[in-house]
Amino acid sequence: MCGIVGYIGKKESLPILIDGLKRLEYRGYDSAGIAIQNGAIQNYKSVGKIDQLEKKIKGIDLFGNLGIAHTRWATHGAPSEENAHPHCDCEGKIWIVHNGIIENYQKIKEELQIEGHVFASETDSEVVAHLIEKFYKGNLLEAVRLTLGEIIGAYSLVVFHKDEPGKMVAAKKGSPLVLGLADDGIIVASDVTAIIRQTRNVIYLEDGEIAFFENENFKILNFNNEEKEKETQKIEWSLEELEKKGYSHFMLKEIFEQPNCIIDSLRGRLIPSEGKAKLGGLDDDVKNLSEIDNLAMVSCGTAHYASLIGEYMLEEYADIPSKASVASEFRYRKQLLNKNTAVLALSQSGETADTLAAIVEANDKNIFTLGIVNTVGSSIARATKAGVYNHIGPEIAVASTKAFTSQVTILTLLTLFLGRMKNMSLATGERIIKELNKLPSQIEKILKNEDEIKRIAQKYYKVSNFAFLGRKYNYPVALEGALKLKEVSYIHAEGFESGEIKHGPLALIDENFPSFFIIPQDSVYEKNLSNVQEIKARGGKVIAIATEGDEEIEKIVDDVIYIPKTLEMLTPILSVIPLQLFAYYVACLNGRDVDKPRNLAKSVTVE
Ligand code: G6P
Repeated sequence: MCGIVGYIGKKESLPILIDGLKRLEYRGYDSAGIAIQNGAIQNYKSVGKIDQLEKKIKGIDLFGNLGIAHTRWATHGAPSEENAHPHCDCEGKIWIVHNGIIENYQKIKEELQIEGHVFASETDSEVVAHLIEKFYKGNLLEAVRLTLGEIIGAYSLVVFHKDEPGKMVAAKKGSPLVLGLADDGIIVASDVTAIIRQTRNVIYLEDGEIAFFENENFKILNFNNEEKEKETQKIEWSLEELEKKGYSHFMLKEIFEQPNCIIDSLRGRLIPSEGKAKLGGLDDDVKNLSEIDNLAMVSCGTAHYASLIGEYMLEEYADIPSKASVASEFRYRKQLLNKNTAVLALSQSGETADTLAAIVEANDKNIFTLGIVNTVGSSIARATKAGVYNHIGPEIAVASTKAFTSQVTILTLLTLFLGRMKNMSLATGERIIKELNKLPSQIEKILKNEDEIKRIAQKYYKVSNFAFLGRKYNYPVALEGALKLKEVSYIHAEGFESGEIKHGPLALIDENFPSFFIIPQDSVYEKNLSNVQEIKARGGKVIAIATEGDEEIEKIVDDVIYIPKTLEMLTPILSVIPLQLFAYYVACLNGRDVDKPRNLAKSVTVE
């Protein structure tokens, strides 16, 4: 995720900026840059780690007590020096760093280009510098204010102007920004971790606020230029606690990030009035995509389970025969692919060796390749011909959580995109969009039930075996629930199609072998209910993930975790959340290394 640091004050800015950038490294990034005001502007950028940037500026006399710096996690445009921040206007006078997404950047960019502005990067952020240039009449604060009126999206920004030394402007809407009040100056950053070495006294900016700095003084205004009183807070947390935002592990932090991740994955991609999805990364390939008559999905681990959900969606709503394969198997079996097949890779890291190899092979056979990838500029993102990014920031815990729900969200967008080109009605498209938009608050509601899930984990954490059962859209969730528990708690767990238990797995069931049953009120509810009874009749304990208001289920099973009602195709995005939390708490209770489970790696770059 991108990071911002700015400094204005009496000290040299460079060491403060570099230290701040290093504190932001844990968030993940692919390039970094710095711009320091000292009459002239000194600007340096590099791809890769902060060390690379440090090497680049070593020996250069870089001084000045006003500067901005940035770590970029690519969203628009590959990781490169051109795309790294800070960005500037045509004349190299106005310098900005930006976090977030400017949704209407394309339109603004086209208009500015017509007016003669020349852009140096592919980023959405650069339009901000050029818009400020357009509005600048000798007052930076006013030009920033006018610019904010034009841009749509989420942002935190820090800006300075070559001709206004000793002044800096910051603004926030939908992306965090905090001021650190040190004795000798002010640090402005996207994250307090970049500040606490200098000071623990901070002011959090709220959405719709602008901070105007003049040497060591500052004022905070709203977008209408009215000054606001703000309270200073004292940070008591350690650096490590701050990186995890107060959560005890990255896994828990990432589970709790999911409502926002869904918002980020959907941002700017829905056209409710047309019941359609707008996917910029597929725009150039609409013709190819409209001709596709079958889809082969390739991926590994959690991404594979997301793709299994995609099979059901794409077939039910987009009428496209779809097959999800584990990438390492896909490569070694005969593939009956034709010119109307597309191969879709799903990968959080974009670096998984087997998934990449499957895409390379498909490219060699001239099969159209697509990606759903979280890491911009990664190998799989580059190897696929078209694709959709998740936009959920880096996932740090080895066990994938937020990537899964985002992958299923993007698969829903893809289903809408392809389905509306085929037989999906406007009403169905509208309904899916309406329900997609409800998901973030519905996930919040499940997360609020954390204590109940913790209680259930306490009841079962010493058990040695677990079954996870589900049907149709929730069969892959059963697989994912079992995988999460295995990965982080080292407890044996298996996922089954609930209809299959009587063909073998039922032999395992006794009072010491509990089952998680994903049983929302959907088209297969009654069938699932019979399977629950089969387990109960054999003395097996059952924990149900059920739809709110289903009181019947309480009478039959041992424990129930409720999820809100949604469309059947979207239930996996809700039903997986309690399973993630359950795995997390069981792992903690067993004293496991939750974020780095034994023998596993986050990115598997060997075949
Ligand atoms: C590893 C990770 C899993 C992940 C899988 C696929 O096994 O530990 O969490 O699901 O790789 O990774 P990808 O980056 O391709 O989604």
